[in-house]
Amino acid sequence: MTSATAVSGIRFDGAAVRLGDADVLAPISLDLDARTVAVVGDNGSGKSTVARLVAGLIRPTAGTVRVLGCDTVRDAAALRRRTAIVFSNPDAQIVMPTVAEDVAFSLRSDRSPRSERAARVERALQRFGLEGQRDHPAHELSGGQKQLLALCGAFVRDPELVVADEPTAFLDGRNAARVAEHLFDGTGHRLLLVTHDLDLARRCQVAVHIEAGRVVGTGPAAGVVADYESTWRR
Ligand SMILES: Nc1ncnc2c1ncn2[C@@H]1O[C@H](COP(=O)(O)OP(=O)(O)OP(=O)(O)O)[C@@H](O)[C@H]1O
Ligand SMILES: [Mg+2]
Repeated sequence: MTSATAVSGIRFDGAAVRLGDADVLAPISLDLDARTVAVVGDNGSGKSTVARLVAGLIRPTAGTVRVLGCDTVRDAAALRRRTAIVFSNPDAQIVMPTVAEDVAFSLRSDRSPRSERAARVERALQRFGLEGQRDHPAHELSGGQKQLLALCGAFVRDPELVVADEPTAFLDGRNAARVAEHLFDGTGHRLLLVTHDLDLARRCQVAVHIEAGRVVGTGPAAGVVADYESTWRR
């Protein structure tokens, strides 16, 4: 039988991060089972560190982090298969010469037949409005198109969890809205969204407010975001 922990979204048990001689995250204990979770807080508060822990990109220096029932250290390979990560800078996320090759690269460890993988790439290109750019050099896309390409590469794998660290930071309003629609579409994935766009944060079910490496608020996003805003608007 599957235990409650095995299906839970994100669980921190005394997880801390020390980098060099800096305590970047104090021990954090959190159990987040909402489908969409925002992480808000000032620059340097530790949000990206939380995202990296959840995605298994860094290890906690104390405690444990469990995501989708996987320990992010012990079950790192399984977690990598089930999650996708999107960052702010679309240039840093392009690895192949053309748009279609870049999306196909995300399926490099997928064992399904070649024709099936090609069909998935095609469906993903259409979903993200990139089918007309299929054979274009990826580096010649606009910033907004590059970020859609990054999302396309993330979503083509049908991830159970998308970890997005300021995915709209470099985008104009129109492209930010398009990216947000994909992040929030109801196709079943969970979302951990680090963002300074508080309207976007409010669209999540739950928010976590980090200040100086500590969790100072967690709960329904509207309330947590309002409390965060009140820290500089009072
Ligand atoms: N390798 C490192 N060694 C020491 N301190 C680090 C290291 N990497 C990050 N930090 C510190 O950890 C803290 C948290 O960084 P983090 O990138 O998680 O913040 P953030 O909330 O994502 O900020 P921003 O909103 O600016 O992206 C910062 O004070 C940063 O200077
Ligand atoms: Mg950051």
